[in-house]
Amino acid sequence: MKVFLAPMVGRTDKYFRKLVRIISPNIVLFTEMITVDSLIRGSFKKYLVNETEHPLVIQLAGNDRNKFIECTKIVSEQGFDEINLNIGCPSSKVVKGGFGACQIEDPIKVAQYVEAIKAQTNIPVSIKTRLGLGYDHDLKNIKEFIRITSESGCDTYYIHARNAILNGISTRKNRSVPPLRYHDVLKLKELFPHINIYINGGIEDINEIKKMLDTYDGVMIGRKIYNNPMFLSEVEHIIFSNSDTFSIQDIVREYISRLDAEEALNKQYALKHLTNLYKGTALSKKWRIYLHNLVNSDQRIENLENFFVENDYEEKKVNCS
Ligand SMILES: Cc1cc2nc3c(=O)[nH]c(=O)nc-3n(C[C@H](O)[C@H](O)[C@H](O)COP(=O)(O)O)c2cc1C
Repeated sequence: MKVFLAPMVGRTDKYFRKLVRIISPNIVLFTEMITVDSLIRGSFKKYLVNETEHPLVIQLAGNDRNKFIECTKIVSEQGFDEINLNIGCPSSKVVKGGFGACQIEDPIKVAQYVEAIKAQTNIPVSIKTRLGLGYDHDLKNIKEFIRITSESGCDTYYIHARNAILNGISTRKNRSVPPLRYHDVLKLKELFPHINIYINGGIEDINEIKKMLDTYDGVMIGRKIYNNPMFLSEVEHIIFSNSDTFSIQDIVREYISRLDAEEALNKQYALKHLTNLYKGTALSKKWRIYLHNLVNSDQRIENLENFFVENDYEEKKVNCS
């Protein structure tokens, strides 16, 4: 029974992962998508997985076998727990680069990447993909894709339960316009009983998660967690039977204590993902304004404590327990 934080560019960075791990000790974390070129040449190469981040999956995107091999060497030293290949991103920039969702149609090449990575490391390799391309709901291509890539050693698939439309609609619309087809993910699960199939897309309700976990090996959740990180306290209580209770104040204090000196000074990034912590409570707007003002002032991040002093009475009402 597994719950995964979906990889989200601009969101699942080290700051958001830190926050999520504090609220949810049991969720499996993902990085943002990282292209093989940016891992090889960019600053992320120096990143070392923090002790508290485990289990943490790195998501790579690319279309060059040798670069995947080079990345595997880097990733093994960084301490990631799984390497995930992005075969689902519909963005025009990504598709122009010849990777992401368009690779559903090139299973033999993807199988070669899987094989090459597995020859270098014992770290498990997985794939995140969609049900298909365009408006065709036939599962022929995705079945062929899973068959060929699983034969090369991939045994775990995260399936965003909709197609990717590569022409005519934006990346954002690609996350809502093609209809969700959970029943087709179920068909894949029945067809490939020996592999792990994790379901993703539009999952927002705790009872729905419970039900899905009766059928699937795991569920992956993205926007619901970003838009309301405290939803994870429900996931902890109900799915993982975790009886720990904590307040948002506790979470924020712990978060600040886990920032290193450089991160604490990087206020804009460090505070950005805290915005939705009070979502759905009376303090929501006040909190967002407070964060905005703090970022744009010369106050230190520790001054967040003043918010709690000023709003102590209201805060008690939103304790999550
Ligand atoms: C802002 C944003 C960025 C995303 N970036 C990635 C990414 O880097 N890699 C990826 O595989 N999917 C990415 N996705 C898709 C999510 O991982 C997920 O498949 C999608 O949002 C559906 O799940 P949800 O309905 O639970 O959000 C992104 C989604 C959002 C909203």
